[in-house]
Amino acid sequence: MTSENAHHEAKRARMHQAWTVATDNYAAHIEPHFAPLTAAMLAAISHLEPARLLDVACGAGEPALTLARHFGPACEVVGIDFCGSMVDRAAQRANGERVPNCRFECGDAEDLSALADASFDIVTCRQGVGFVPRPERALGEFRRVLKASGTALVTSWGTKGGALLPRISGGTIASFFEIDQDPGGRPPWHFAEENRLARALLDAGFDHADQREVRADIGFANTRALYSALRGTAMSPYFQRVTDELEPAVLAKIEELAAPYRAGEGYRLPCAFVLATGTVRGA
Ligand SMILES: C[S@@+](CC[C@H](N)C(=O)[O-])C[C@H]1O[C@@H](n2cnc3c(N)ncnc32)[C@H](O)[C@@H]1O
Repeated sequence: MTSENAHHEAKRARMHQAWTVATDNYAAHIEPHFAPLTAAMLAAISHLEPARLLDVACGAGEPALTLARHFGPACEVVGIDFCGSMVDRAAQRANGERVPNCRFECGDAEDLSALADASFDIVTCRQGVGFVPRPERALGEFRRVLKASGTALVTSWGTKGGALLPRISGGTIASFFEIDQDPGGRPPWHFAEENRLARALLDAGFDHADQREVRADIGFANTRALYSALRGTAMSPYFQRVTDELEPAVLAKIEELAAPYRAGEGYRLPCAFVLATGTVRGA
């Protein structure tokens, strides 16, 4: 294995562990706050009539479940995530919420070779591409599995000022633990700058791409609720190391970092995201 591959493999393993640890808190305390992103994605594609839709890095089931309900039984929705605990949770929801046109499988965004070329009408990836070691490979896979006239919708954190959850979570952890640095790693707002997400889609072979900002205020009732959400981020393994003795200091640090966004007893975080659309020319 070359040192570059070893580096990517180490990042992948760190992310896999982080999202495995984060699964329950992510599903309960973060995913519901991303509903405005689902709405923006849906607004971009609701006029289409896809027969097959792929949701990559599908997490605990959204937006795949909402999209499957929207497009109805004529559309088969497949969700893929590399984290078994996320896939299990998503599959339980599809079953419990009776969404039979939606199924979930384990798989890596960088290698969708289990899926045939030109076999999907739409590929979505909400808040996933930023965690993939080689996002260019993932976007190349999105392009490969799309049919002629297909559409990819990809979201990531927006401007530095709007990437508030990762900034508060990273800032809190950095005060107590040494963070495993990712040499050459990208900050969470990387794709929002210089039109990078749209450019990456063009580089991956899309015929047309653009990106726009989506803003959403994310509210938390109190510091504990925000703490629960931070434990559902990619910093989850560090939060797991917070002992009962350390917890009051951690809560105080969260209060300090989130102080500018105080709203009554809780917080209102003005978050920003980027939504990029890539399209493939018709046959
Ligand atoms: C912030 S969550 C987003 C989940 C979901 N898309 C949503 O919007 O709620 C990031 C997800 O990316 C997944 N992920 C990270 N790297 C991945 C990879 N290389 N391949 C597949 N999934 C990956 C994680 O397991 C996690 O479920």
